[in-house]
Amino acid sequence: MAPKSFILYALPTFLSFSGISAIDYFVTNEAAKTPGGIRFTNEIGIPYTTHKMGTINDFIWSTILQENNPLDRKPVDYVNLYIVEFDGAEGITWGNNNINVSSIYLNGYEGDLKWEFTSLLYHEMTHVFQWDGEGHTPSMLVEGIADYTILRADYAPPGFAKPGQGDRWDQGYDFTARFLEYCDGINSGFVAKFNKKMRFNYDVKYFKELTGKPVDQLWNEYKANYGH
Ligand SMILES: *[C@@H]1O[C@H](CO)[C@@H](O)[C@H](O)[C@H]1NC(C)=O
Ligand SMILES: [Zn+2]
Repeated sequence: MAPKSFILYALPTFLSFSGISAIDYFVTNEAAKTPGGIRFTNEIGIPYTTHKMGTINDFIWSTILQENNPLDRKPVDYVNLYIVEFDGAEGITWGNNNINVSSIYLNGYEGDLKWEFTSLLYHEMTHVFQWDGEGHTPSMLVEGIADYTILRADYAPPGFAKPGQGDRWDQGYDFTARFLEYCDGINSGFVAKFNKKMRFNYDVKYFKELTGKPVDQLWNEYKANYGH
């Protein structure tokens, strides 16, 4: 009997220490002495960011990817977010679970920095949790899904593409996000179902499997629907 009772006792302890049921969020301002890092401290702050990462994580699991079963989720125990001084991008998600936000970008932003930063967080956090066909998914579709989260969260900035805009379905970012929104109108939960298919691979025919139409036809109908 002794080994059995040991296992019953030890299992919950193991679960809570390995972080299977909950994700931790770590925020580090490495640019705290730079103008952008100071703006981060004054206008956003670490407590807000840590809290918001949790809210966004829940939103991605429940609404965007609809992964209510933990076994469907990407195995992530914690997410690191760094405010770092670098140029050329607003933010970048790297490795399995790290996000860098540019202090230079934060410093240059004119307007409600906290709102803008939150919008960016929706995008980058999506990269942490979405499947990418083990690297086979076109990167512009990956970016489109990240912007689709922004759209669904009602955090689309003023310059975000309007429905029907864009030249190609895989143009990326907000253009692809609008197209995905259209696909969701044909098959509710489209992005969640598409993401699930991309766990191990990618194939353009996933569009047809979910909507009954090849992606080029979908795109043409999307453009026609909005009079373009
Ligand atoms: C992000 O910032 C961390 C912390 O400074 C750094 O170690 C890492 O190399 C950066 N990653 C990228 C992709 O720039
Ligand atoms: Zn991105």
